[in-house]
Amino acid sequence: MRISRQTGKSAFTDRTGMVSASSAPTAAAHAGLSPSAWVCRFAPLVSKSGAVLDLAAGGGRHTRLFLEQGYKVVAVDRDTAGLAGLRSPHLEVITADLENSGPWPLPGRRFAGVVVTNYLHRPLFPALLAALDPGGMLIYETFAAGNERFGKPSNPDFLLRPGELLEVARGRLRVLAYEDLEVSEPKPAMVQRLAARAP
Ligand SMILES: C[S@@+](CC[C@H](N)C(=O)[O-])C[C@H]1O[C@@H](n2cnc3c(N)ncnc32)[C@H](O)[C@@H]1O
Repeated sequence: MRISRQTGKSAFTDRTGMVSASSAPTAAAHAGLSPSAWVCRFAPLVSKSGAVLDLAAGGGRHTRLFLEQGYKVVAVDRDTAGLAGLRSPHLEVITADLENSGPWPLPGRRFAGVVVTNYLHRPLFPALLAALDPGGMLIYETFAAGNERFGKPSNPDFLLRPGELLEVARGRLRVLAYEDLEVSEPKPAMVQRLAARAP
């Protein structure tokens, strides 16, 4: 597994120490970078005593959201080019392939919040739960069975089975909210989403 890290020390920091991005908000919205309403809803429940893990962070829409709210963020993706425009001393970017049976790239690390959106690799579920601090929040939202009616993803490997996120949490996390439904925004899709707290 190739893992590389970039911390805020090597990233550009503006004089205010605030996160900045190369794209204007309007451009970000047009590029599909608006944060998920589900993540926005539950973000305030994440303690600021720890960092947030944005797994398969993509273009960093949730990395940006949490940085702007004053959290430390660790963003992981196999392709971190989409994060290159984010500037913050509180951001650690890890380039890692999460699916090639190599070691978990964050051994022993714990987070106040773990955020996963539009990404599913089932073998990671145990590592995600183990990565939660006591009281840590898991905020998860991705495509679910039935989405094949709308297009991609249509591969069952990338679609949650009915109740699957609830099963992941059962007996391990306190489920605060769970939905399994058809949505129309940002595009018609079947999604499942969970917000749950570690004991
Ligand atoms: C649909 S995007 C979602 C990005 C982000 N979570 C969001 O909702 O905006 C899926 C992301 O998963 C990443 N990804 C896919 N396979 C991966 C792998 N094997 N290891 C690490 N990241 C992977 C992709 O690079 C991509 O950024």
